[in-house]
Amino acid sequence: MAITLRSVLLVSAVICAVSAKTQKDPGSAAAPKGHNSLTVGILGDFGWSGWSPANTYFCNEVAPVLTAKNITIPRELQNDCDAGDRAAAQNASAAQVSTASYIKNICTMKNCSAFISVGDNFYDSGVGFTTTGVNRFQETWVDMYSQGIYENATWYQCLGNHDIVYGQAGVDFETKIAPLYDDRWYFGTEGLPYYTYDIVGQDWTATFVVVDSDCFIEKYQKSSSVYQNGYTTSCYKEKQTQVDFVTQAFAKSTADWKFLQIHHGFLSSSTNYTELWPLVSVAEKHNGIVLNGHDHCAAHYVGNKTNFVLSGAAGYPEAGDCNNGVSLGSFVKFLGADAAGAGNGFVTLDISSKELVFEYYIRDMEYEGGDLYPVKDDTKPSYSFTVKDKAK
Ligand SMILES: *[C@@H]1O[C@H](CO)[C@@H](O)[C@H](O)[C@H]1NC(C)=O
Ligand SMILES: *[C@@H]1O[C@H](CO)[C@@H](O)[C@H](O)[C@H]1NC(C)=O
Ligand SMILES: *[C@@H]1O[C@H](CO)[C@@H](O)[C@H](O)[C@H]1NC(C)=O
Ligand SMILES: *[C@@H]1O[C@H](CO)[C@@H](O)[C@H](O)[C@H]1NC(C)=O
Ligand SMILES: *[C@@H]1O[C@H](CO)[C@@H](O)[C@H](O)[C@H]1NC(C)=O
Ligand SMILES: *[C@@H]1O[C@H](CO)[C@@H](O)[C@H](O)[C@H]1NC(C)=O
Repeated sequence: MAITLRSVLLVSAVICAVSAKTQKDPGSAAAPKGHNSLTVGILGDFGWSGWSPANTYFCNEVAPVLTAKNITIPRELQNDCDAGDRAAAQNASAAQVSTASYIKNICTMKNCSAFISVGDNFYDSGVGFTTTGVNRFQETWVDMYSQGIYENATWYQCLGNHDIVYGQAGVDFETKIAPLYDDRWYFGTEGLPYYTYDIVGQDWTATFVVVDSDCFIEKYQKSSSVYQNGYTTSCYKEKQTQVDFVTQAFAKSTADWKFLQIHHGFLSSSTNYTELWPLVSVAEKHNGIVLNGHDHCAAHYVGNKTNFVLSGAAGYPEAGDCNNGVSLGSFVKFLGADAAGAGNGFVTLDISSKELVFEYYIRDMEYEGGDLYPVKDDTKPSYSFTVKDKAK
């Protein structure tokens, strides 16, 4: 295509807009303060678009030869050979795009002021400080979530297992580089994988405490795990630091509402990560609410009177993660899945001094030739619940 004057002008206009954005300080963008009530979107497991899996010849033919010769294949390359994820890549990428647009519509209607991520921001192996990494960051997040209601909304980020495959360099990218790249990407003020923040209304405060649950997962410590690397080995040894951080942040806060924001599910329909109890017990003690992802569907669980909000459906939905819609017990209040599939979507949270309202929006996944998850009117929540009992 010939480069016209018009496209040159358009390109320079875009460059100006982008460079103006990078002038702001990291973390300067935050949810607006002082409102009677505020709505935030909670979402996770979204970052598929732009992922190019490792090629099949390498994965199937070359990798076994290297392994037999005791040549170490970098974890991110091993992970980019994952057969299930390779098969899912194309659909998952399309699903992220459609769901981004659905979230935008719902959030325009509901006036979302910020987004809360429960991790898995970049499949399959996070982003390194490399050419591929910066291009993925731009395509998978900056460009995906930049128009309309997304334009000025802060994203309170969190790490998932796919974000840490690259090790410390991948963690540093998301915690230290990304906030300077785009000031809507928030990761606290210390450049650490754990932090706390408050969203403050007219007569209410909500405290959120974010930690990296990857550091607690026992099986990630095995040498056969793609998640075993210098970062996870070291943060596992120092996990008490994060437990102490959560304990102090929950104790110090006098907020009306308190949340633990993590990636993995302590209570789940597919895998209960019971090793998260040191973190979850703190939330339970303070009458807090647990927000998590990891399972690729949306669900609401209640255990020990504690609400667990699973919002892992913004990328590739997987019905098995919600046990194909079959309840495993009375702890299950809602599953965004059935025998045929799981629905894409997210959860909105309306915060006021009186109550918290959680609404589960699941999109009708109609495509040419079928419907992967029929929802009659997806502009209305498929499920909702209200919390009036404040934190302590
Ligand atoms: C690979 O390493 C293992 C353990 O370190 C060793 O037992 C084995 O003989 C090595 N194989 C080759 C082909 O070098
Ligand atoms: C991809 O989506 C199509 C429908 O668009 C479906 O038929 C197919 O099974 C999906 N593939 C995978 C690997 O999920
Ligand atoms: C939307 O929320 C913002 C706060 O983020 C507020 O200033 C604005 O008045 C709200 N708009 C509507 C239409 O409620
Ligand atoms: C975002 O903020 C800019 C600058 O304040 C404003 O011009 C723009 O309208 C805002 N966008 C939206 C969607 O609110
Ligand atoms: C998770 O724990 C709950 C409560 O103990 C249990 O009922 C449920 O079956 C467990 N989930 C799985 C997948 O084992
Ligand atoms: C409930 O509390 C007990 C300890 O009091 C703990 O062992 C259990 O894991 C908790 N279950 C949930 C779902 O929080």
